[in-house]
Amino acid sequence: MWFYKDVGHTQDAKKELVSIMDFADSESVFITPKPTRLIQRILQIATNPGDLVLDSFGGSGTTGHAVLKMNATASGSIGEDADEEPEARLRRFILIELEPTVCKDVTAERLRRAAVGHTNAKGEAIKGIGGGFRFCELGEALFDEAGQIRETVKFGELARHVYFSETREPLPRERVPNTPLLGVCRGVAVYLLFNGILGDKTSNGGNVLTRKTLATLPPFQGPKVIYCAGCLIGADRLAEEGITVRQTPYEIRVS
Ligand SMILES: C[S@@+](CC[C@H](N)C(=O)[O-])C[C@H]1O[C@@H](n2cnc3c(N)ncnc32)[C@H](O)[C@@H]1O
Repeated sequence: MWFYKDVGHTQDAKKELVSIMDFADSESVFITPKPTRLIQRILQIATNPGDLVLDSFGGSGTTGHAVLKMNATASGSIGEDADEEPEARLRRFILIELEPTVCKDVTAERLRRAAVGHTNAKGEAIKGIGGGFRFCELGEALFDEAGQIRETVKFGELARHVYFSETREPLPRERVPNTPLLGVCRGVAVYLLFNGILGDKTSNGGNVLTRKTLATLPPFQGPKVIYCAGCLIGADRLAEEGITVRQTPYEIRVS
């Protein structure tokens, strides 16, 4: 039994939203927002401390707000292991919102206000409950339905994906991938030959690993993984050079 006094109802949810966002009326924005208390109750039952909560229809951001609240108070954390690091007990969230204006002006703005605090319509300073989030915008899909790399994909876009899928580490933000050597991770250099990065866009040219292209790659003393459209170098030479070849697009992990 979930009583109104415990989990609230839609009216509370509207008040909650109007108060944090200074909306004149939430009616026009969201017809049935959920109270954070209701989502907290659901998360108490359905998740454990440290879990990652996904709401693929972010909307007014109630799910994220509920997670921030649970992290701010110990009350939502049933079944906690007291030996665990406090960080490991925090729930995290991913919210996805399709509408750009809703996403920026409502979903993200509500969570920002909740986390860091805000001044309400009466001019009162409302303290933040802590926590935070990162706002990301999805780019175009890299692959088409047939698994081929889309023609419009730029070198830098594929490079970031290749580096992450190979190493499980993001390419550092400040590193602009504009050379075939994307980076070195745990002692292994990751290279990508794509879109004629070596200045040769012919089908058997700069995207294919040949003795000639190998000689023009930025050098690295140690093991190398090279993503390329094809390879015309023999296995012995590859082994000698410590090179693992992965063929694009087939050997690029999509996740
Ligand atoms: C009912 S609201 C979500 C309410 C939210 N969970 C809450 O309680 O605050 C649904 C939202 O999903 C968004 N949406 C619809 N289709 C989507 C999609 N394919 N991907 C991401 N968001 C989508 C809509 O723009 C709308 O803001």
